Amino acid sequence: MGTLVRFGVSIEKSLVERFDRLLDASGYANRSEALRDLMRSRLVQEEVSDPRASVLGVFSLVYDHHRRELERHLKEIQHRAHHRIISATHVHVDHDTCLEVILLRGKAGEIRSLADALAGLKGVKHTSLSLTSVRGL
Ligand code: NI
Repeated sequence: MGTLVRFGVSIEKSLVERFDRLLDASGYANRSEALRDLMRSRLVQEEVSDPRASVLGVFSLVYDHHRRELERHLKEIQHRAHHRIISATHVHVDHDTCLEVILLRGKAGEIRSLADALAGLKGVKHTSLSLTSVRGL
């Protein structure tokens, strides 16, 4: 941790009370740690909103195991983007459903496009993309 700076903030009592209740429920040791995390979270959100930013991504997709051609398309798209894919884990959830979790790195815009291409395939039921950046943390 770098040099610590203390600063005063004026906040409505009711807002602080609600925040403190949330902290109690979340397991934060103190307000400072919770505020630091909120600030980092907002900074990461801002960072990854730039399509040119270097990011890490976690993309998960749930899809229909029986949908013909889907697995071939999923693999083709991933092979074309092999330089952006760190790893992919496949889980056979049940007789009908597969879950794939793909770790990615690259420019935010490229990662979002790749996720959109995979999400748009027929038979994909649910997807989730989480982007993070380690810059400035
Ligand atoms: Ni499977």
